[in-house]
Amino acid sequence: MQNGFLGYPASFMLDVVVCALVVVVPLLAFNLYLVKFGRNYALHKKLQLLLAAVLLVAVGLFEVDMQLQGGIDGILTKRERPLSAEELASFRTLLYVHLFFAISTVVVWIVTVAAALWKFPSPPVPGGHSRLHKTLGWLSAVDITATAVTGLMVYYYGFMVP
Ligand code: HEM
Repeated sequence: MQNGFLGYPASFMLDVVVCALVVVVPLLAFNLYLVKFGRNYALHKKLQLLLAAVLLVAVGLFEVDMQLQGGIDGILTKRERPLSAEELASFRTLLYVHLFFAISTVVVWIVTVAAALWKFPSPPVPGGHSRLHKTLGWLSAVDITATAVTGLMVYYYGFMVP
């Protein structure tokens, strides 16, 4: 099976998702800065919808790719030196922590976007939904950041560590 383009024995889609995770967090930070200090709500809406779409497509393609490659076990067999039993056990724990954040991120993001589209007027302005949206919005931001950090750790310990 083909390696990814980052030069490690991962897969093409895994590399795409890693790059997406690295890009999404600074973009989100910039976007939250725009809404908090610039009060540019229309741009905030556009950028958030774009980010949510990119994330959803990346996660979807990643899932398909994982199935084609025989799951994470299939990908790990491409390593030159197989992980030891202890390394594999820690790797699996890390993977479950990452999956917890990744799955909850998808749920929280869908709820945040759906509620915002439904409750805010178009073009969006602060109103009755602001309080709940701020809570959901910050939860979404923390969740995606935890997903990115643990995802990069999975990539590092699974494929970059010699
Ligand atoms: C997952 C997607 C989204 C996230 C993570 C998110 C996050 C946030 C956060 C954290 C804030 C509060 C910033 C602060 O503390 O002042 C905020 C404000 C706001 N967002 Fe979003 N947002 C998202 C999608 C949307 C969408 C789709 C809309 C419009 C339909 C929208 C409209 C607004 C508005 C109007 C405010 C200002 C609320 C106020 O200051 O009273 N957001 N967003």
